[in-house]
Amino acid sequence: MGKDSAPIYVTRPELPSLDDFIPYLRKIWDSRVLTNGGPFHEEFERKLADRLGVGHIALFANCTIGLVTALQALRITGEVITTPYSFVATAHSLLWNGIKPVFVDIDPLTLNLDPDKIEAAITPQTTAIMPVHCYGHPCDVERIQAIADTYGLKIIYDAAHAFGVECKGGSVLKYGDLSVLSFHATKVFTTFEGGAIICPDEKTRQRINYLKNFGFAGETTVVAPGINGKMSEFNAALGLLQLQGFDAALARRRAIDARYRAGLAGVKGISCARGTGETIANYAYFPILVDSDYPLSRDDLYQRFRDHDIVVRRYFYPLISDFPMYRGLPSAAATNLPVADRVARQVICLPIYPSLQDDQVDRILELI
Ligand SMILES: Cc1ncc(COP(=O)(O)O)c(C=O)c1O
Repeated sequence: MGKDSAPIYVTRPELPSLDDFIPYLRKIWDSRVLTNGGPFHEEFERKLADRLGVGHIALFANCTIGLVTALQALRITGEVITTPYSFVATAHSLLWNGIKPVFVDIDPLTLNLDPDKIEAAITPQTTAIMPVHCYGHPCDVERIQAIADTYGLKIIYDAAHAFGVECKGGSVLKYGDLSVLSFHATKVFTTFEGGAIICPDEKTRQRINYLKNFGFAGETTVVAPGINGKMSEFNAALGLLQLQGFDAALARRRAIDARYRAGLAGVKGISCARGTGETIANYAYFPILVDSDYPLSRDDLYQRFRDHDIVVRRYFYPLISDFPMYRGLPSAAATNLPVADRVARQVICLPIYPSLQDDQVDRILELI
């Protein structure tokens, strides 16, 4: 097996046909309504809420600004408990609000914030918990809610990976005070860039809409130091079209996930991460953990893939708590985060996306 075939990347965005998108663009060009809650924005918001089975959605330019705004909307201050095993934007949204992240270790099975370890990290300064549904695998939403209720804390879920995921209570996005989605190019559902906050009621959504539009609550009224977090008509129109293809894309992801699992079942030293709480999964990522009884180290296997033009990724390595702006925090010490520290040194995310072919999956399996 050599470099004769095209590189395989960890993901490849699924797009509708350009011909199908042109009529949407024509409408935008004709109307000259480009942003600020235009007709595509309104329609996408409505149809997205229906598709996800949630009541109230505020669209955003991306998930990171959504997270920053969610924290503002709930007036979160002081300390927030979060996971080190995520993309840096999770903790960055706290720093952008002058909030101190407090890192808590992850559960070895779900790789999400470990509910058993949250209470010990609560101090008088703690105001909220920011868990991540990592890889789209649901957090233990009920136990986290019980802790938040006991201590009077808010919960903001970084749901960047969790588009379409359901657990026994329905959409996983309905849990906590707010959940924030990402529609970035690397996500299961993409509008190039984009995101959304799932809100519990219309009143909260209204406040969030002020915040994402510079704080404007009327032509001459500004009620908060808001930001510009608005989604444009281009992204919203694309989102409408993407909704039509989502179920087919999900079915293909499910088949790839099953092919990997079958192929890796007997491989000593490789384990496949899986969610425990979902009734409907989204197969957003395919993380494997390379154990010490595998003949190669994680980084040697990673390099072997790269040498064969298979561009796998070590999501999430390094841990957020290892980056310079976080590593001085007491909670960032590796001794406080033994599971996350181990998993970050074991993980490789294999390619998974709807247009990945069975023979490409087999090539990847053969390399392992
Ligand atoms: C867990 C997590 N949170 C937040 C983000 C940021 O999302 P966005 O790129 O839409 O700002 C990402 C990925 O991009 C992510 O993986």
